Amino acid sequence: MSFRKGVLISEFEDRSVQDHGSGWSNLWDTGKSDLWDRGKPSPALIDIIENYSRSEDILHPFTPDGRRKKALVPGCGRGYEVVMLSLHGFDAYGLEVSATAVAEAKAYATKELTAPQAYNFGHGPKIGDWPPTHSADRGVVEFLQGDFFATDWSHNDMKFDLVYDYTFLCALHPTRRAAWAERMMSLLNPRGVLVCLEFPMYKDPSLPGPPWGVKGVYWDLLSSRGITGSGECTRLLYIQPQRTHEIGMGTDMISVYARNE
Ligand SMILES: C[S@@+](CC[C@H](N)C(=O)[O-])C[C@H]1O[C@@H](n2cnc3c(N)ncnc32)[C@H](O)[C@@H]1O
Repeated sequence: MSFRKGVLISEFEDRSVQDHGSGWSNLWDTGKSDLWDRGKPSPALIDIIENYSRSEDILHPFTPDGRRKKALVPGCGRGYEVVMLSLHGFDAYGLEVSATAVAEAKAYATKELTAPQAYNFGHGPKIGDWPPTHSADRGVVEFLQGDFFATDWSHNDMKFDLVYDYTFLCALHPTRRAAWAERMMSLLNPRGVLVCLEFPMYKDPSLPGPPWGVKGVYWDLLSSRGITGSGECTRLLYIQPQRTHEIGMGTDMISVYARNE
């Protein structure tokens, strides 16, 4: 999401916060997704998945007892990361408030899973047959339409082992941040991880969004001093990615929070 704020900010400035979902749907319906769409999965996420997915690692696609892990990408847009996570062995779910985005993500996934492009993979250690040549080696891909803050999109109150946030928190009005943190924690299994590619870190947080500047915001929300103060999660990693989308090069950070048991 660059700062073509004439379009993005003006879409939201006269809407109530409760109506922001309609604003995002309108942007999709009027063909404005190029304002944020990067055209491929995040290299930073690919690298961290591949570097922390050895057998006992937190980002391995299977639990120690052999269950395939479930991953969620809220505000997944065209679903690049959903497909990539499936190709790395996770059952991957994308959530979008926009019906148009869900349709575009389904079309992208159908095409991409037929002949996955090299951009889905980095140079990390391989697990078994990786890149997967058989569909059985991949996880499922499913796109759900709904509001992240509601519960009606989830099958049987589904919980996840990995949730990925990129340009989702920064898309939400700051008054929704505490609710974002609570909802994230409620969606994670114990020991599940929230992976945040923090962007934009270079934007003054006092300026209007979206995107809203997030420097310090994830930590404030998720550290043991955040949410309820009861230490619901622990930050396991905080690193500057070597590869990331060009717009965040040199400023993006990756943080990984585990939900405490
Ligand atoms: C800035 S875009 C980023 C999309 C995607 N992460 C990407 O990098 O291309 C934010 C996305 O979040 C979706 N979104 C906004 N609010 C949402 C909500 N409450 N629940 C689900 N999706 C939402 C929008 O439709 C939009 O596609």
